[in-house]
Amino acid sequence: MDNTPASTAPAAPAALGLLAGKVAFITGAGRGIGAAAARLFAREGARVLLAARTEAELKAVTEEVRAAGGTAEYVTCDLADAAGVRAAVDHAVDLYGRLDVAFNNGATIQHPGPLDGMPEPDFDRVYSVNLKGVWLAMVAEVAAIRATAGTGAIVNNSSVGSLRGNPELPAYAAMKRAVNSLTESAAVTYGPEGIRVNAIAPGATLTAMIRAWEAESPGLTERLSAGNPLRRMADPEEIAQAAAWFLSDRSSFVTGTVLRVDGGALT
Ligand SMILES: NC(=O)c1ccc[n+]([C@@H]2O[C@H](COP(=O)([O-])OP(=O)(O)OC[C@H]3O[C@@H](n4cnc5c(N)ncnc54)[C@H](OP(=O)(O)O)[C@@H]3O)[C@@H](O)[C@H]2O)c1
Repeated sequence: MDNTPASTAPAAPAALGLLAGKVAFITGAGRGIGAAAARLFAREGARVLLAARTEAELKAVTEEVRAAGGTAEYVTCDLADAAGVRAAVDHAVDLYGRLDVAFNNGATIQHPGPLDGMPEPDFDRVYSVNLKGVWLAMVAEVAAIRATAGTGAIVNNSSVGSLRGNPELPAYAAMKRAVNSLTESAAVTYGPEGIRVNAIAPGATLTAMIRAWEAESPGLTERLSAGNPLRRMADPEEIAQAAAWFLSDRSSFVTGTVLRVDGGALT
């Protein structure tokens, strides 16, 4: 016997987006995956606040989102600057009155090479932006979500490079693995109050970051494309789609997960 309750509710309006009604804060939103996320989240109904250091890029993406009918603002901030990160997150609340979701996507890459060839200041820079910056952002976001929306969701952008030895980008990979750990710890800490925390681990994605790596490692993109069953790199929007789902109520029972979005690269 089919005991599925018959629904008396009217069908949901088809026009309702995945993130309808939510306020979203996105770091690294001036280009690449973060810019794709800003466009997508706004299309899915979120009011978005874009953050990064380069104002011209943020302004261009913000105007694009607005021209498409979305609601967007931007704020400049360096993820290595604690006060700046806190101010940027607080700005979302000043602008929109609340914070529901955040995508901690901004990061920097290192020069490729073995770990004993890396100058100490470079290691410190990758640490400050890619690990400490994510921690700073999460602390500010949890406080803002708690104080306004009450419950919410955070997604951290990790990398498939975090899941295995990475001789070409050892410091970058180490920080990303630590981001996975912070994600899992935060999920346990904040789950009881209804704040979900997940990470995505993208594979090779066509952005300025991969082009910078390719410039120092010719042939990289062919190598990376050949290394996954789909035999190509990702378009930034394909990565943003995974983040959007994690930030939406459709993933309401998912927390503490690190999801590979990598064309099957590790299989
Ligand atoms: N592309 C890939 O193949 C790939 C693969 C795995 C994971 N990822 C991850 O995906 C995320 C996005 O990367 P992407 O490929 O889109 O790179 P991207 O095109 O270089 O974009 C990086 C974004 O982060 C911002 N950013 C960098 N340093 C910052 C800082 N100190 N403070 C604030 N913002 C900063 C950049 O803006 P400003 O420079 O203006 O600040 C930019 O908006 C990163 O977390 C990256 O590690 C990328």
